[in-house]
Amino acid sequence: MAMPQHWKTVRLAGALGAEIHGPDVRNPTPDDIAALKQLLLEHLVLFLPDQAPSPREHVAFARHFGPLEGHPNLSSDGDLPPELFQLKASQGGVADEWHTDLTFQDQPSILSILRMVKCPEVGGDTMWSSLYAAYDELSEPMKALCSGLTALHDALPHNKPDSMAIHPVVRRHPETGREALYVNEHFTRRIVEMRAEESEALLRHLTAWVQNPRFTVRYTWQPGCIAIWDNRCTQHFVLNDFVGERVIQRATVSGDQVEPAGDLNWQPWVRPGRLSATSRHDRQLYFYLKNRAKTRTDADPV
Ligand SMILES: [Fe+2]
Repeated sequence: MAMPQHWKTVRLAGALGAEIHGPDVRNPTPDDIAALKQLLLEHLVLFLPDQAPSPREHVAFARHFGPLEGHPNLSSDGDLPPELFQLKASQGGVADEWHTDLTFQDQPSILSILRMVKCPEVGGDTMWSSLYAAYDELSEPMKALCSGLTALHDALPHNKPDSMAIHPVVRRHPETGREALYVNEHFTRRIVEMRAEESEALLRHLTAWVQNPRFTVRYTWQPGCIAIWDNRCTQHFVLNDFVGERVIQRATVSGDQVEPAGDLNWQPWVRPGRLSATSRHDRQLYFYLKNRAKTRTDADPV
């Protein structure tokens, strides 16, 4: 797919990220959308500066990338279409912990399409990290270990700890076929197949590893910029280093099934022996698995 001739791509870092000059999100042609999809697969996060869509035009643009979903936990602003949700720094809306959007869902969103409505003059940058690079640079034994594991994610940061899902620790991107390291500091709680202590040590390492500056890009915003990122192979983080207001509006493209990159042959960790004071470390995983088994049995045809 050729890029429209008047467009210009400016790469922003070695690992990921590009600014695309030329498109107008208010009125894209099918070729424009196809080109943006191709550029997104290549650069993982795209920035389209100087865009001025209305909220409805923002939603219409986002729909070209797939069906949209509202935010499951955070309410939208009453004046906006339901497919857009707004985050205001003055109301606590600063996502200053590394995460991939909505990984506590069974089918986490594949793309997010954000418009910067208002940003501080200085500070409030966002960073993204390439989960391809984070996986590729693991040692071979660590790749082999991680590819056989799954992890439990929950929405505790949204005060919904019962909203949980299990995903492979390494996922295969359905379009590029590449492996991505899919655990994040914000939503990932527990490696399912490991003891609590082992899980804690491995997750601490992996969630810090994806933050390695070499895997990242940092973007300084101007109002009107649209960012599109692929949640299947990136994480992001907002620098909470500013005073004053910062407002974003986001459309979220519905998710897909997370495909593992390797064979998942290990059983979930089950603590042997009787209950004790340390059983609490396994309580969340135990009850999640128990409820899941019950739900599956209930759903079975009789
Ligand atoms: Fe986010």
